[in-house]
Parts: sequence; structure tokens; C-alpha cells
Amino acid sequence: MQIRKLNANEIPPFELLLLADPSQKLVEEYLRRGYCFIGLRNDQVIGVYVLLPTRPDTVELVNLAVDENHQGNGFGKQLVKHAIQIATGLGFKTIEVGTGNSGVGQLALYQKCGFRITGVDRDFFVRHYDEAIFENGIQVIDMIRLSQDL
Ligand code: COA
Repeated sequence: MQIRKLNANEIPPFELLLLADPSQKLVEEYLRRGYCFIGLRNDQVIGVYVLLPTRPDTVELVNLAVDENHQGNGFGKQLVKHAIQIATGLGFKTIEVGTGNSGVGQLALYQKCGFRITGVDRDFFVRHYDEAIFENGIQVIDMIRLSQDL
């Protein structure tokens, strides 16, 4: 998979972006404020992530997604490692990420890429989303926050 920045004249891969975050409003906000990167295989966009500057020296990895037909092949890990490299190159000192309490695979992926849990934003998904979301048979209620120093 080749990873590159989305050009200003390209349409963002909304279907993929919405896999990671069902809120179109939040996705559009992230795209406006962040740097969007796409992963391509045979000219097809199969992966995406957005790097969102949040506080001085800190950037958050948001909207990470791999096309469902290509999941489980290491592309997610490749995108996370790329995001860490880009954030380091841009001079950020800390990279953060958040995921739902039910995201067993995501929690494994981020920890395998060097992130450590820093806290829990309790009730985040109840406060910010209108409908109840379930994943792995578990309701998504709290956001697990992770970070790593760059
Ligand atoms: N237990 C232990 N390890 C697990 C696991 C589990 N239940 N599920 C995944 N992993 C590990 C994999 O084994 C792999 O590690 P390895 O390389 O050491 O074997 C690592 O996590 C990532 O696997 P990878 O194949 O790179 O992930 P992927 O390409 O399937 O992408 C997502 C992962 C999360 C990006 C993808 O599933 C996705 O797009 N999901 C929907 C959107 C989403 O939830 N985005 C994240 C928002 S926080």
C-alpha cells in the first residue's frame, strides 16, 4: 500500500472516513482542521487517516480506517506507523488517539504501535452521539485515550 497526502483538489473518501466515525459533521470538521492521508493499492483508496493538531506540540490521530475487504492484512498498522512518522517530521512532541471501550482490535493495534493508555473519557459516546452504538456486542460508551511521546 502506498500512502500519500490527499491533494486539495481530490474528493475525500467519505465512505471510508465514516467507517471510523459515523458522524458526518465531525468527519467534515476533522478534514477542515487536519491533514488527510490516503492509502492506495492498485489505484484504489483502501485506507485513510487524519492528523489533527489539537494543542501546542500535540496532534491526534483520528478517522483511521481500512476498507473492510482489506482488513487484517497489516494495512492498519502501516497507516498508524506512517502517522507517527509524519507527526514526528512535522515537529509534534506527542501523538494521541482515542477509541471506544469496545474496540478490542483497535486497542491491540494502538498498543502494538507504541501507544499507552492515559485515561478514560467517560460517557463520551453518550454525550456526543444521538444513537447507541454497539461493537463486538459491547455498547460504546467511554472513550479510551492513548498517547505516545515522539
Ligand atoms: N487481539 C489482539 N490483536 C489484535 C486483535 C485482537 N482482537 N485485533 C487486531 N489485532 C492486531 C492484529 O493482529 C495486528 O497486529 P500484528 O500485526 O502484530 O498481528 C494489529 O492489531 C493490526 O492489524 P491490521 O491488519 O494492521 O489492522 P487492519 O488493517 O484490519 O486495520 C482498523 C485496523 C481498526 C483500522 C480496521 O479494522 C478498521 O478500519 N476498522 C473500522 C474503523 C475503525 O474502527 N477505526 C478506528 C477508530 S478508533
